[in-house]
Amino acid sequence: MKNIQLVFIVVLFGIVAADITVNKEKRCSCPSFIKSECDKWYDCKWSETSCQEKECKDYTTEDKCSGDCQWKGGKCIDEKKECEDMPNEESCSNFAGCGWKDNKCIEFTQCSDFIVSKAERCNVLRGENDERCQAKGVSVTTLRQKHLVVATGFQCENKVYVNCSKFVTEATCKGEATATAKCQWKSDGKCYAFELKTCRDADGFNSMCDPKYCKKDGQQCVNRSCSDLTTQALCTSIPKIDNNKAILCKWGADNKCTNAIDTTHLNEQTCNDVTFGSYHWVTNTCQQCASNWILSIVSLIILVAFI
Ligand SMILES: *[C@@H]1O[C@H](CO)[C@@H](O)[C@H](O)[C@H]1NC(C)=O
Ligand SMILES: *[C@@H]1O[C@H](CO)[C@@H](O)[C@H](O)[C@H]1NC(C)=O
Repeated sequence: MKNIQLVFIVVLFGIVAADITVNKEKRCSCPSFIKSECDKWYDCKWSETSCQEKECKDYTTEDKCSGDCQWKGGKCIDEKKECEDMPNEESCSNFAGCGWKDNKCIEFTQCSDFIVSKAERCNVLRGENDERCQAKGVSVTTLRQKHLVVATGFQCENKVYVNCSKFVTEATCKGEATATAKCQWKSDGKCYAFELKTCRDADGFNSMCDPKYCKKDGQQCVNRSCSDLTTQALCTSIPKIDNNKAILCKWGADNKCTNAIDTTHLNEQTCNDVTFGSYHWVTNTCQQCASNWILSIVSLIILVAFI
């Protein structure tokens, strides 16, 4: 029994000692912020002794009045913006999930329901299940025909994806293979549907090794790591390809940047910034919000059992 507990503890410390991945989408809620953190977030406000989430009426400019609020009559009011609140084709087209039909802005139904005055507006139409659209036949119309089409509007249709493998030259290897993959020419002389899911996916694809996440290591495209950051100012985190996550880095006494294994290098000023708001300063430490409390409780129970 003790052996099992020991294994558990080793595993738990293994997890604790791993790289710290921060999730940009898991921002702390306003009430968890101290004043200096609270002041940095546009949707939070400091009220006497605590940080609170702003209400719609607290937004005094249109650009910040979004989400569950909308700008009406010079004020930000407590009413979610819907498709039918969009007064014209342009604003409708810019609002996610909506499309312009029969002079009204409606929720997306299907591509073929929409006729728009600019071809690009078919491309931005998007259904809930990420259905994409395109303008019918626009790529083959000549300039003169295009003018004629403009007069009547562009009929949208379901997006047609291409089969990359049918292209046999680099020049023709073009187009979208899926909602997320594009045709790309590989050094083996073939055209493939390409999507950067890990850095190694870019091996053999010229210039697809995205320097934001990856670096060239000889012929290979590999993950960037903290050690590639050579100044203290840059040594904060490395973004991960699986979006909205980042690995936390730490500047050492040896003037080198390495993966952080905890947040003890962060302070009241840096804690919240460096973690994209997902950690907060509390009891003089930098802690994750909405965090590993289950893990902490489990490890506490096991420790107690072990002792
Ligand atoms: C794409 O084209 C290739 C050859 O032209 C064919 O073998 C393959 O089955 C096609 N793939 C799809 C998904 O249609
Ligand atoms: C590179 O990063 C990806 C995701 O960010 C990860 O799944 C993979 O294990 C990493 N590879 C190496 C060799 O560290």
